[in-house]
Amino acid sequence: MRFARLALASCFAVSQAQVLHQDAQQPLKLEESARRVAVIGAGAAGASAAYHLRKFADEAGVKANITIFERNAYIGGRSTTVQAFDDPSSDPIELGASIFVKVNYILSNATEEFGLRTVELGSAREYDGYNGTARLAAAPLLGVWDGEKFLITQSATNRWWDTAKLLWRYGLAPIRTNNLVKKTVNAFLSLYEEPMFPFASLSDAAYELGLTAVTATTGWQYLEENKVGGLFAQEVVQAATRVNYAQNLGLIHGLETMVCMATDGAVGVEGGNWKIFEKMVEGATKDVLLGTAVSAVRKVEGGGYILEWKEVEGGDGSAESKMKSEHFDSVVLAAPHQFSDIEIAPESKRVPDKVPYVQLHVTLFTSPHLLSPQAFNLPPDELVPEIILTTLQPDEKPGSDPKGVGRAGFFSISLLQPIVNRKVNPPREEFTYKIFSPTEIDAKFLIKILGLQDSPLGAEDDEGEEAQLDVSKEDVSWIYRKVWHSYPYHYPRVTFEEISLDKDFWYTSGIEGFISTMETSALMGKNVARLIVDDWMGRKKDTHVDDGGKREL
Ligand SMILES: Cc1cc2nc3c(=O)[nH]c(=O)nc-3n(C[C@H](O)[C@H](O)[C@H](O)COP(=O)(O)OP(=O)(O)OC[C@H]3O[C@@H](n4cnc5c(N)ncnc54)[C@H](O)[C@@H]3O)c2cc1C
Ligand SMILES: *[C@@H]1O[C@H](CO)[C@@H](O)[C@H](O)[C@H]1NC(C)=O
Ligand SMILES: *[C@@H]1O[C@H](CO)[C@@H](O)[C@H](O)[C@H]1NC(C)=O
Ligand SMILES: *[C@@H]1O[C@H](CO)[C@@H](O)[C@H](O)[C@H]1NC(C)=O
Repeated sequence: MRFARLALASCFAVSQAQVLHQDAQQPLKLEESARRVAVIGAGAAGASAAYHLRKFADEAGVKANITIFERNAYIGGRSTTVQAFDDPSSDPIELGASIFVKVNYILSNATEEFGLRTVELGSAREYDGYNGTARLAAAPLLGVWDGEKFLITQSATNRWWDTAKLLWRYGLAPIRTNNLVKKTVNAFLSLYEEPMFPFASLSDAAYELGLTAVTATTGWQYLEENKVGGLFAQEVVQAATRVNYAQNLGLIHGLETMVCMATDGAVGVEGGNWKIFEKMVEGATKDVLLGTAVSAVRKVEGGGYILEWKEVEGGDGSAESKMKSEHFDSVVLAAPHQFSDIEIAPESKRVPDKVPYVQLHVTLFTSPHLLSPQAFNLPPDELVPEIILTTLQPDEKPGSDPKGVGRAGFFSISLLQPIVNRKVNPPREEFTYKIFSPTEIDAKFLIKILGLQDSPLGAEDDEGEEAQLDVSKEDVSWIYRKVWHSYPYHYPRVTFEEISLDKDFWYTSGIEGFISTMETSALMGKNVARLIVDDWMGRKKDTHVDDGGKREL
């Protein structure tokens, strides 16, 4: 039996909840060679799957030969950074996922383990060594804008007064919401531990934890059922669901709504969150094929899959390389199937459903100007908040993209770290902005928010072919646009995509309909890694769903 016996024994020690047996039809393979695993995608899910597969396989004493395929030229997927002016000495700016929170244990623990430094979600005014940040001292930290006026603002200094104002305006709603968040977070955290972990079905696990009841309703209904007043929901919670998921409370489900309100200990990794995933990949394998797109997964009669792949050249389609193919024992698809361009033939037992995704426009730009108070209907001597969140006016419908954005026209505008523009002589300090919107941010919009006059020069535009900006480089010195399929529309639902698509064929992205974050993708990657090793070892979890044990939230 060699390693198998040892691993089975250690498994007994690990969990009493697991029922161990050797599957009669699938006796353990005892050949010496390592099992070959293909991980498709090097985002949070794929990196975590590979990293934990290496760990679990080592613990079980099984040899795993892991190859990671990644279409992009970089590791991180939707966690990636860019640098203003393409200047390698400037602070990297998150273009996708920017924060995770304290209870995101996989990311927090990995950050610590890898010795990465985190930075708190700071305020632009806190950057030392910049002259211009003093100008921000009087600006509110945050404001919620409805397209006509700021409904609430929060100052950076007077916290006590802000709390008093909140209680006055919203009564117990903030406290009730906080308690709801705690309850749902605690239920969610059960997914990390035995007996829930590993979970073969997310639908079953969510049901057992009582979380299906939270995903079954809209955020609006969920808050209402729990006696959170409409004003707080509309002005605060909806501002949060819009900045985090570009969705309104009347459509997004209750669980993702709770995630938006769970912001305790929000941090990002200095230099970029992708560093976590780079370290995970490093810890898993040397066989990492960047700039390589898998085009087909073909099931083999005798077991395993033939993968076909090609190198992609800088994304411009030129210099197509020859297709390659090899056999793998197991395959992990760690990317939304609908955007992967992978042919699965013959069709796997379960093909992931196509679901609508948000198309989010992220616009980064630098400017020497602060936002114009007039653009936000403020008196000329007042300052615009550093972070502007938005919500709908009471008469506006919560419809989807792009109408759901309402009169505000954007989801958020935030001031990021200040920067020194070295392209001008002498170098000068500027501000960096990030806008989330459902449509392209055009010159008209920039001119309005910066309070500029029309001017003829074109600004530097890193993405090339975009429409010429009628904004001078003096006013907008650098601009970068990216359109993401950022996350699914989180319409209420009670079932989630299968994790096992077929024998030895695994899928991580189903968790995005439940919660779409770096952490949850990493959790699903870890879960799949464990399911794979359990499968190899002939360990089967008792999947009996204990109906009597369903918890109420
Ligand atoms: C603007 C924005 C802001 C966000 N903010 C946050 C935030 O603050 N906090 C947070 O936790 N989450 C945030 N998210 C969500 C978070 O980014 C995602 O939930 C998470 O990164 C998804 O990770 P993943 O590994 O599942 O998918 P991805 O990161 O999409 O990784 C999939 C990878 O697979 C690759 N791939 C696809 N097809 C193929 C193929 N055929 N062959 C080879 N490779 C392939 C892709 O190139 C990609 O790199 C944000 C997302 C966006 C877009
Ligand atoms: C993984 O398997 C491939 C194909 O058999 C082989 O070429 C490669 O050397 C193996 N890698 C490791 C690290 O064993
Ligand atoms: C994270 O680290 C803490 C402290 O060591 C540990 O108790 C916890 O189980 C870890 N969680 C995960 C998901 O790794
Ligand atoms: C900041 O102010 C000091 C003193 O006026 C000046 O010497 C320096 O050049 C300024 N820095 C920038 C980046 O503008």
